[in-house]
Amino acid sequence: MTERYRVAVIGCGGIAANHIRGYLDAGRYDIVALADLSDEAMAEKVTRFGITPRCYHDARAMLDAERPDVVSICTWHAGHAPWTIAAASRRPRVILCEKPMADTLGHAEQMLVACQRNQVRLAISHQRRFLPSYTLARELIARGAIGAVRTIQSFAADGLPNYSSHQTDMYRWLLGDVACDWVMGNIERKTDRHERNTRIEDCAVGVFHFANDAVALLLSDVTSTVYQGAFITGSTGMIALTTSDLQLLNADTGGRWELHTPPGRFGQPAELGEAFEWVEAGAAQAAELAEWLDGTRATFRNEAHEGYIALQMVHAVYESARRHEKVLLPMQTRANPLDVMVESGHLAPERPGAFDIRAFLLRGERMTSDA
Ligand SMILES: NC(=O)c1ccc[n+]([C@@H]2O[C@H](COP(=O)([O-])OP(=O)(O)OC[C@H]3O[C@@H](n4cnc5c(N)ncnc54)[C@H](O)[C@@H]3O)[C@@H](O)[C@H]2O)c1
Repeated sequence: MTERYRVAVIGCGGIAANHIRGYLDAGRYDIVALADLSDEAMAEKVTRFGITPRCYHDARAMLDAERPDVVSICTWHAGHAPWTIAAASRRPRVILCEKPMADTLGHAEQMLVACQRNQVRLAISHQRRFLPSYTLARELIARGAIGAVRTIQSFAADGLPNYSSHQTDMYRWLLGDVACDWVMGNIERKTDRHERNTRIEDCAVGVFHFANDAVALLLSDVTSTVYQGAFITGSTGMIALTTSDLQLLNADTGGRWELHTPPGRFGQPAELGEAFEWVEAGAAQAAELAEWLDGTRATFRNEAHEGYIALQMVHAVYESARRHEKVLLPMQTRANPLDVMVESGHLAPERPGAFDIRAFLLRGERMTSDA
């Protein structure tokens, strides 16, 4: 009989809904426990999904009492390392932690160490690797449909760690997880801007070079164009990629754009519209995670080392701005270079007054998170 896995979720806000729906749609899991500081956040999940988990305010008490197989970590970024380390010490089978992997590379390394120490598998939820359009683009590129990839252009916003960790992960997914060997970039930070309690820049540009000589270009918070996806040019063709479809242009398409809208395993883009990527990617990720736990597949496409590289690529833009140099990967600096620049006075805000562009997610009277 197929084994079912017992899931506990730490942090029951917006993205936790995607985890829970994904586990339920995959049909291999039971949501046995939720932990959140907010009763309202947990009650909303119970009602919305018709589940009957035990609810806790203290996530450590939950881990001790429930001993889950799977722990989803859905707190804000700075909570990813402490909660992953706490969960790892209770030895679940796997931890699925939200992106960006951590607030510093040092903390991300501690997550890897804690999981290694306890023989716990760790995955980072860059769920767009499970989108059919992203995977089709990867396959077309691998088949040589656009020749040698020259550039991947992408547009982002809301600070590099949140939005652009998806983009840096996407570059490598599209290129067959080739190594990113150097990063160069710059940022502007005049205000004291934060995103989910993490210091961010006002705007940024980044250039990412890969071992196969492809280059990715990232414009973040500098244009009104912002989307997950990319415009990819190759030596013999081009791909315009979104989260629900792609267009291909090459000699075989007669030099015309050819639309591909690949169906998902759990939903169809045409039927689900904007919801497609969340329904499909969450469930497809949960389904593959179960197969990895079953042992029917040796690898999982969001194993932690991928998320760790995506985070390095983001922090390398900050490090390039700090050091005025092309930053070679793997990164040596474990602190968040943006924090270092600000806290050392090198990049003091010219328009002081900390604010958080995601403060609207908080509940009650809180204006900052203690996650
Ligand atoms: N993969 C994606 O596409 C995607 C999309 C959205 C958010 N995210 C990531 O998910 C994370 C959470 O974002 P969100 O939008 O869901 O935030 P959110 O504010 O909606 O939810 C966070 C929840 O964590 C709870 N929490 C805080 N401290 C806690 C503690 N000590 N113990 C238990 N619960 C605690 C909060 O009460 C809140 O309910 C972020 O790191 C974000 O980057 C990823």
